[in-house]
Amino acid sequence: MRLKRILAALLTGAMLFLSGCGAHAAEVAQTCAAIHVALTFDDGPHETLTPELLSGLAQRDVHATFFVIGDLAEQYPDLLREMAAAGHQIGNHSYDHAQLNKLSCWEALRDIQECDTLLQNYLGEGIYWVRPPYGSISKGECASIAAPLVTWSVDPEDWKILDSKKVVKAVENTICDGSIILMHDQYPSTVEATLQIIDDLQAQGVVFCTLEELFACHGICPELGRIYRHA
Ligand code: NI
Repeated sequence: MRLKRILAALLTGAMLFLSGCGAHAAEVAQTCAAIHVALTFDDGPHETLTPELLSGLAQRDVHATFFVIGDLAEQYPDLLREMAAAGHQIGNHSYDHAQLNKLSCWEALRDIQECDTLLQNYLGEGIYWVRPPYGSISKGECASIAAPLVTWSVDPEDWKILDSKKVVKAVENTICDGSIILMHDQYPSTVEATLQIIDDLQAQGVVFCTLEELFACHGICPELGRIYRHA
């Protein structure tokens, strides 16, 4: 079993190298014999709670992915740069969090595009992965976006429960290798739950990584315009 995993990891590394995902992806793939999950935070950045979360993540040496709302990122550009500089992956959660499937195709794409332009301006050129607000977007819209799209596989409904113990339980009972965990860095209970989840699961050998690392680890070179819910 162990040998099988090692072989799979080596093969994945070779495939990533060949597919042009880059040397970094290949390196990541070789350390993949553990359970890997990605924490993702939507709807920020938040003026006080995001910095609190960032410091907790730094203390635990964890990198996460933040799908920011363009309108808020514009209000806290220094915080946005701080998040990226700390090694977290920054993604696009649209400019003003409209429900994209209730907009026309053109309006929805403009909302995503506006946030992308802002991220390119503040953080530099790159491919900023997209999480459509409410996870809803049409296939046609998806296909016109020049970035991978991601929803989630674990949703503890932290925004609704607002109870850190219940959020911890909901996540810890459902994660598996490749899980993408949906959280919102807008609630003190979420920050508290997140740090508790990391402490509990790191002790069991679970590795927390960014979405890019999670996909690389699973040998997936994400396609532009395609939507993924786990790795
Ligand atoms: Ni959202």
